[in-house]
Amino acid sequence: MANEVQQLTFRMTREEFDFFRSKIFLLAGISLSDAKLDLLQARLRSRVLSLGMKDFRSYQLYLQKLPEVHQEWEHFINLLTTNKTDWFREPDHFSFIVNEFLPRWLKLGKKHLKVWCAASSTGEEAYTLSLVLNLALKTSGVSFYILATDIDTNVLGLGRNGVYPQACLSQIPEKYHFGFCQGTKELSTWMKVRKEVKGPVEFKHFNLSQTPYQWQENFDLVLCRNVMIYFNKETIRNVVEAIYESSCDDAALIIAHSESLQNVNASWKYLAPSLYHKGRLF
Ligand SMILES: C[S@@+](CC[C@H](N)C(=O)[O-])C[C@H]1O[C@@H](n2cnc3c(N)ncnc32)[C@H](O)[C@@H]1O
Repeated sequence: MANEVQQLTFRMTREEFDFFRSKIFLLAGISLSDAKLDLLQARLRSRVLSLGMKDFRSYQLYLQKLPEVHQEWEHFINLLTTNKTDWFREPDHFSFIVNEFLPRWLKLGKKHLKVWCAASSTGEEAYTLSLVLNLALKTSGVSFYILATDIDTNVLGLGRNGVYPQACLSQIPEKYHFGFCQGTKELSTWMKVRKEVKGPVEFKHFNLSQTPYQWQENFDLVLCRNVMIYFNKETIRNVVEAIYESSCDDAALIIAHSESLQNVNASWKYLAPSLYHKGRLF
């Protein structure tokens, strides 16, 4: 019994913490302060145990021998990301899209809207966007596409599935409930995102911290919310500049209310708290 308790309560040393946090910074740009030792310890403990190891030192030594492409690094990253998300999170952003962004954007006469939902977690944010755009663009003759990306391969799988507890409907305004079908008998407490809402959304693995981005993209609208809180100032600057390069001249960027581009010397122009643009649309 004493052995079992010892097994479950082994602690992470400062040196081990420094190793793990330097790795997650290198791999994902996630910056962990000294105060995050307990968090890191709690997140990695079950992995150490499931690998049959007795302490964090063994896990460190194991990781040190692995090539960068080894699947264990994927587990490591997935364990250390924080995936909290919601339907209609920070709802004023969706009002901004419908009432401010779209009316201006539609005047440009473009026929296809490209949106990037960067750091999409389990998909609620991307499907919220899809519900909103489905309704707002219904009679406009404009089609849309949403690229939903995340570094965490587990959450991408859940997003691709598009199945959520029915209790989530309470977070979604009633006029958008058309976007779901009820679960089957076996899945009666679950709901599935309808084809029209799921179809325009594509989930892809993407590491925001690996800048500059190796693609030629031109998004009209980018949502990059509640991820930059995990990055240091230099990483934030590199990320928002890379997003800038991936956006068209009329683009807008939405970040979270808890985030700001103040003091990062970004090319984006400030519009209102959490809202930025390239200078042509507003
Ligand atoms: C707190 S969630 C935010 C989800 C959603 N954007 C929202 O506002 O509800 C943060 C997400 O960022 C992802 N993330 C963290 N570092 C990342 C990186 N370097 N590249 C891409 N995604 C990252 C995490 O996996 C996680 O799913």
